[in-house]
This record gives sequence, structure tokens and C-alpha cells, in this order.
Amino acid sequence: MADQQARPGEDKRPSEIPVIRWEEPPEGPVLILLDQTRLPSEEVELVCTDASALVEAIRSLAVRGAPVLGIAGAYGVALAAARGFDVDEAAEALESARPTAVNLSLGVRRGLAAYRDALAATGDPTAAATAALASAQALHREDAEASARMAAHGLALLDELMPGGGHRVLTHCNTGALVSGGEGTAFAVALAAHRVGRLRRLWVDETRPLLQGARLTAWEAARCGMAYTLLTDSAAGSLFAAGEVDAVLIGADRIAADGSVANKVGSYPLAVLARYHHVPFIVVAPVTTIDPDTPDGASIEVEQRPGFEVTEILTPQATAVGGGGGVPLAPLGTQAYNPAFDVTPPELVTAIVTEEGVVSPVTPEVLAALCAKARAT
Ligand code: MRU
Repeated sequence: MADQQARPGEDKRPSEIPVIRWEEPPEGPVLILLDQTRLPSEEVELVCTDASALVEAIRSLAVRGAPVLGIAGAYGVALAAARGFDVDEAAEALESARPTAVNLSLGVRRGLAAYRDALAATGDPTAAATAALASAQALHREDAEASARMAAHGLALLDELMPGGGHRVLTHCNTGALVSGGEGTAFAVALAAHRVGRLRRLWVDETRPLLQGARLTAWEAARCGMAYTLLTDSAAGSLFAAGEVDAVLIGADRIAADGSVANKVGSYPLAVLARYHHVPFIVVAPVTTIDPDTPDGASIEVEQRPGFEVTEILTPQATAVGGGGGVPLAPLGTQAYNPAFDVTPPELVTAIVTEEGVVSPVTPEVLAALCAKARAT
């Protein structure tokens, strides 16, 4: 168990993390990503000069997490347009790079619509490329604003559920600045609690097999000076049993119209544990993650990842794409079950926190009303 005490004053602002940015050097426009497969040991940038490099970065999880996948998708369309590639082809490849996070296809479609509208209006591909870029930049800004509003709503909810303060929050996967134009979703709520002195401890699930909790959330928590403790996913049960968890805060990759929540595999077992131990299970996600076109949990496509992510320990040199070359954990030829996500039914979700407010209890009607309100503003 790695342990870290709160260090007041060490709050390096998550906005300083260079997650994704657009640059226009003389050789032509590029999209620059912080390569998340190399964290925490190295902060290395990945320069994408075309959409196919970005597709590869998405598949290998160099860039990952629902909101930033949407932002990346929109920039990917802009990149294809600015570099004179076939924009429709690039959009299709980007949209299908990973299936579960609805934000990816939303971001791609938004960039593509801006490109097509401008092309139809002006007949000028350069003007259309500029419009696609403006649309990606707007999405980037909007996500940062949504993140700040989710943090405020989430903090108010924690205080309402636990008026005494001193929250001990368990989180899974990574939901901070690395997944967002701002400070993230669930992590942003914990960070808001930390800033007002009400986060007693952030319990960080390591998140097998790709260790987004250990590699990324612990890295972000340390940068922010939060009191955090890392645990193996399978230690969560005894932590609940010991009465050490006041709330679970997680993000989402897609929320179906009935309130079913797809998130990193291991979220559903936490929801079951939380219910058994009478602990609130809170999902924090922007309204864009709610997909009215997906009726229920069974309709969510869950990405299946290659077995070697489970049977090997991957090093930065042996990344998810390509496979093999990692340190073997199991006999050669062992088959592995490796879904990237699982689905939590709405009845196990205490509340969904969005930038438009909190949904609790989680019902299709309240979710539909929230989406309608967001569309109207
Ligand atoms: O496979 P990943 O690392 O892309 O999975 C990410 C998650 O499951 C996050 O919890 C989710 O995208 C929400 S992030 C706000």
C-alpha cells in the first residue's frame, strides 16, 4: 500500500498539465498530446501530424478518458482538414477507434458538422478547416467550464450527504485533468473537497489491468498535494467492511437513457459493495456522456481489449498496441477475459452529478429532462 499525506500548498494547478494542444509550426498544424502510457515515469509528448496517428494514440490509450476523447476527436477532424486529408474518411476512423465512450463520436461529429457546414456555405476548404478548428476549441473550452460546474455541484452533494466534512472518498480509474479540458469529473469533485479542507483521504483503486489509478490518479493526487492511498482493486471490499469509505466517486464513459452507467471495469463491483455497506455511489459526468440514443445498459457496446494486457505487465516500451514484449504474468498461451468497461444498473447509482445539476434518484424521466435543459441552454 503506497501512502501519501496531504501537503498543503503543493496544489500544482491541474490546468498546467499539457494534456492536449493545437500548434501551427511552419511545417504545418499538429495536435500534441501528453503520452499517458508513459506516466508517471516520464512526461513525454506525442506529436500527431495526421488523424491516423491520433487513432493509434486513442487505441493505445496515450489519450484516454471520455471527455478528452471527445475533444481529441474534434481536433482530429480539424487536423485532417487542415492537412488536406479526406475528412470523411478521417472522421470515420476516429469515431470507430474505441466504441464505448460516447463523447468520442460526439466530438468527431461536431467537428465534421462544422467542417461540412462551412464548406457548403463558402466552398472553401481552408475556411472549412478553420471552422472545424474553432469548433474543437469551443468544445475544449466548454469542457473546462463543465468540469468546474460539476466540481461545485459534486462538492455541495458531498456536504449534503455528509454534513460533518472529513470525506473519505474511494475512486476508480482516472478522472482528473488528464481526461478533460479542465480538472476532470469525479477527481475534480475530490479536488474541490481537498481545497476547502474537507477531503480526509482519497482512496485510489489501482485499476487493473492498465493501472490508470496507480499510474495516473496517484500522479495527479500527488501533484495536487492531496492525502491519498493506493490499494489493489481487490482490497476495496475489506476497506468498506472496515468502515473506511464515506462515498464512491467515479466517472462514466456512457450513460444510457435508463441511467445505466458504463465505466472502467471494476466500477460495478464497487457499486455492489457500496450498496451493501450503505455508502453513496456517485457518478460524475458531463451531460454529453448521457446518450439518449442508447436505451439501456444491455445496449452499450463494451470494448474488449487484448488478453496480453492481463497476461503481461506492460512497460512503456511494450505498450498496448502491438502487444507482446511485456513481462509474462501467466503461462504462455493463457486466455484472458479483458473487457475495458462494465455497466452499473441505475438502481445502484445514488446520484449522477452533471454540470447542469444533480440527478437523484436516477430515473429515465429526470435524465431526459436534464438533457432537454442542456440542449436549450
Ligand atoms: O480505458 P480508459 O482509461 O479510457 O477508461 C476511462 C474511464 O473509464 C474513465 O473513468 C471515464 O472515461 C470517465 S473519465 C471522466
